[in-house]
Amino acid sequence: MSKIYVMDHPLIKHKITMLRDERTTVKDFRELANEIALLMGYEATKDLELTDIKVKTPITETMGKTIDKQVALVPILRAGLGMVDALMSLIPAAKIGHVGLYRDPETHEPVEYYCKLPTDIEKRQVLVLDPMLATGGSAVAAIDFIKKRGAKKIKLVNIIGAPEGVEAVSKAHPDVDIYIGALDEKLNENCYIVPGLGDAGDRLFGTL
Ligand code: PRP
Ligand code: URA
Repeated sequence: MSKIYVMDHPLIKHKITMLRDERTTVKDFRELANEIALLMGYEATKDLELTDIKVKTPITETMGKTIDKQVALVPILRAGLGMVDALMSLIPAAKIGHVGLYRDPETHEPVEYYCKLPTDIEKRQVLVLDPMLATGGSAVAAIDFIKKRGAKKIKLVNIIGAPEGVEAVSKAHPDVDIYIGALDEKLNENCYIVPGLGDAGDRLFGTL
């Protein structure tokens, strides 16, 4: 089964509360999403494999560590884009793939419109990025695409998740661990997360 990591850090809790606030401006929303993604990125990369490497300091030669497995970041468009810069600043050598999905407003089912992934994705630790995990339909579909291209090690990073989404992903992809900033109560009749933060893409890009 998927391991579920719900963030417990005071800074993440504080910033998610600000992110939820309906008075938060687009500029502040973007900055907060970036800061939360940075803090969550630290957690989601804590088990990256390391290899021993020699390093020569100005004083002497010593052994150090280098990250062994290369990383691919895959934001789910649009809202996942708000988490990419933070992860890129932690792992500058990461390659970036994009999966474009939107939820049909009537059925709430994900509709694919774009998929471009690094050609060597099978060798990489993949971090799928999306601030919201609601029904889980978008994350399950995105992970399906990424697996079809050969990826074997995948983690999902969400700022806010609903229990329904966590269950859907862990049922469809039990090998994928999920990192969640806050695990919320439920979905409403429009499949929005309660209490949530509203529409993440609209708040991030000012398209309300
Ligand atoms: C949002 C969000 C997720 C999806 C979550 O995207 O960014 O991708 O909904 O919902 P689900 O778990 O029920 O699939 P949306 O479809 O609003 O598209 P957008 O990012 O382009 O606004
Ligand atoms: N997508 C969002 O942006 N917000 C939700 O609450 C659910 C799906």
